Amino acid sequence: MPAIALTCTQCHAEYPIGPMFHGCPLCRAAGTVAALGVTYDYDAIARALNINEWNVPSQSHSIWRFRALLPVSDPRCIVSLGEGNTALVRPRVVCEETGLNELYIKNETTNPTWAFKDRFHAASISMAKALGFTKVTASTTGNHGSSAAAYAAAAGMASCAIFCHPESSVLQRNMIQLYGGTAFVLKDRDRYLEALVTDHGYYPSTTMEPMPVGTPYGVEGYKTIGYEIFLQLGRRVPDHLFCPISAGDSLYGPWKGFRELRLMGISDRLPRMHGAQAAGCNPYVRSFQQGLNEVVVHPDPRSIALSIRDEMGGKPALQAIYESGGDATDVTDEEILHAVRLLARSGFLVEPSSAASVACAMKASREGRIRRDQTVVCLITGSGAKWPEVLAGLVDRTAPVEPTWGQIQSDLSL
Ligand SMILES: Cc1ncc(COP(=O)(O)O)c(C=O)c1O
Ligand SMILES: [Zn+2]
Repeated sequence: MPAIALTCTQCHAEYPIGPMFHGCPLCRAAGTVAALGVTYDYDAIARALNINEWNVPSQSHSIWRFRALLPVSDPRCIVSLGEGNTALVRPRVVCEETGLNELYIKNETTNPTWAFKDRFHAASISMAKALGFTKVTASTTGNHGSSAAAYAAAAGMASCAIFCHPESSVLQRNMIQLYGGTAFVLKDRDRYLEALVTDHGYYPSTTMEPMPVGTPYGVEGYKTIGYEIFLQLGRRVPDHLFCPISAGDSLYGPWKGFRELRLMGISDRLPRMHGAQAAGCNPYVRSFQQGLNEVVVHPDPRSIALSIRDEMGGKPALQAIYESGGDATDVTDEEILHAVRLLARSGFLVEPSSAASVACAMKASREGRIRRDQTVVCLITGSGAKWPEVLAGLVDRTAPVEPTWGQIQSDLSL
């Protein structure tokens, strides 16, 4: 069942599915920026859908087991690297420290490029193919661009131009090159990106400024996180979902998934959505605390959590927070690094931005905003393995080379 329309998230005007990357033209003419979202004939899909098929192992290797609710229907256009189908697991030490027995992480670090971004590009670059594009571009702090390059490679795109944040890691830039993309490092990333899109026929597999316009199709990949959590909890919706947010699609996407399940009568509840941010870059928290409808611009973003260190964010995530009865919370870099350590001691190597979701859940638990009998899911968006410099700074012991037996005994307190 193909998607039926692009619908404005603000004025609800509808447009045909197509290459619309600058938000709603009607809203723009009225002087505001509004993102477009993909909508479907949910009644027809619900009538035809047998969700038992979502659990069939042969269909489970990628997000495309949910293809009835994804925008690409032509199998020749579907691009996949086996993304999604990630584990929902309890991080032992975090559960012990918080006393929350029903706290889970949705571990997106096991995706093909070790980040949840793979769901975005599986949907978005498949759509680029369906729309006839042969060149893609994206702006990135690291994860988004390396994933875009991998999916551009899988799709056989002729060109993939990625504009990287000045502090993006060399490892991520090298990944982009190895996947066959062309990486550039610069501060004002959107200027040239816009030129590639407007004048040179590139497809933006990215959010663009003003936030969060750009491709409306990537969020369709993220919404499968909501479907998977629902299935993994035994067809149940969690009470709380904590997502580390920057442009906000990481929260808006799963929220859209949960809303669609309810629209189709598959579930009857929605989770409370919590935006997790760093205290040094918290535009959503500032906006939420003031009850604003727009996300304010943060004047001076600073945090170790580079992947969520954008000075602005998109309105759909803020609306989702309000609608769900959730909130936006921030944590200090120390709290984020503490969560990185607790997750590592539970067996999970995650990047600081991802740990922000767990750090915010721990804070909410301390402050009594979540109860012990409630089901809490924290989205773990990316792997620590892609941030070797950060990990090196966290290690408090260097392994001795060729130690004496005496040193081994002493180090092991034998
Ligand atoms: C690891 C990680 N977590 C969270 C985010 C935030 O995602 P979004 O900008 O969609 O809110 C990003 C974005 O780059 C990321 O790389
Ligand atoms: Zn509009």
